[in-house]
Amino acid sequence: MSGRVESLAALELVVATSGFLPRAPRARYTTGMDLGLHGRVALVTGSTRGIGHHTALTLAKEGCDVAICGRTKEPLDQAAERLAATGRRVTASQVDLLEPGGVERFVSTAVESLGRLDVVVANVGGTFGGNFLETSPADWLKTFEVNLVHAVRVIQAAAPHLARSDAASVVIIASISGSRPGPRAQYGVAKAGEIQLASSLARELAPQRIRVNAVSPGSILWEGGSWHRRATTMPDVINQFVAREFPWGRMGTLDEIANVITFLSSPRASWVNGANVVVDGAQGQPSIKLP
Ligand SMILES: NC(=O)c1ccc[n+]([C@@H]2O[C@H](COP(=O)([O-])OP(=O)(O)OC[C@H]3O[C@@H](n4cnc5c(N)ncnc54)[C@H](OP(=O)(O)O)[C@@H]3O)[C@@H](O)[C@H]2O)c1
Repeated sequence: MSGRVESLAALELVVATSGFLPRAPRARYTTGMDLGLHGRVALVTGSTRGIGHHTALTLAKEGCDVAICGRTKEPLDQAAERLAATGRRVTASQVDLLEPGGVERFVSTAVESLGRLDVVVANVGGTFGGNFLETSPADWLKTFEVNLVHAVRVIQAAAPHLARSDAASVVIIASISGSRPGPRAQYGVAKAGEIQLASSLARELAPQRIRVNAVSPGSILWEGGSWHRRATTMPDVINQFVAREFPWGRMGTLDEIANVITFLSSPRASWVNGANVVVDGAQGQPSIKLP
């Protein structure tokens, strides 16, 4: 009983002194749990910037050799340099994953260069077309292709290699838009498909001992990212969105997403399978209606 009072008092002290001001997390981790990722090989689709790149960097810092890709050469070279600075081996493929054979080439290049595959992060995603009444069937198909179908193709190409790992993991980067209503519908529906894909494959690929999970980020703010662009071009709209929908008064950071993806990719998460892990700081509405 006294323990309970003490912890409540401690909680009240934290609340009183924090004031809930928007800021990045204060915690600093100098030592930690060994995730068991050292010497493993990870492949991340769409990894020259944003969530994909930060995840590749976090996995490399945990001891993984990494395979990255993107369509544009200069950011790809710069991303590879940042990753190589961790001391891990890196293979970088300039490829459009929507082209026929693109996904399959990326996976086979990674395995040829790095010798094995333990971790796959299906990260590429995005939206084509505008609000519902202005969208064409082509917009819907392309949005499905870049999110859901790319994930299907990368998992199919990687599965034979993952099946040889003693700790195989796939993480599909979905979104809170996949489980909550909000614009753009084609994006949310494609992300819902990715969440469903993770839960179905967790069972279907269990005999091969491949775990499959989805991570659903809320809005993540990083320089050059879509929310940063909107915050620059329509600051009032974004400030109102943050005040209304984010109880901590800020959007999420790349670290906060990459850390969760990295843990799920590790053998420490061996009993997390078929989950949709929401990482959104208790965000409400997933997005805003754009013109
Ligand atoms: N940012 C957020 O707030 C947020 C929230 C929830 C979910 N998500 C999801 O998180 C994932 C990453 O989004 P993000 O905002 O961090 O990054 P992003 O700006 O969408 O960048 C994606 C990366 O993928 C590469 N890429 C895009 N299309 C490609 C293609 N066809 N072939 C090969 N590479 C391609 C890009 O490089 P190139 O352009 O050079 O090809 C870049 O490296 C997406 O699935 C997104 O839906 C993001």
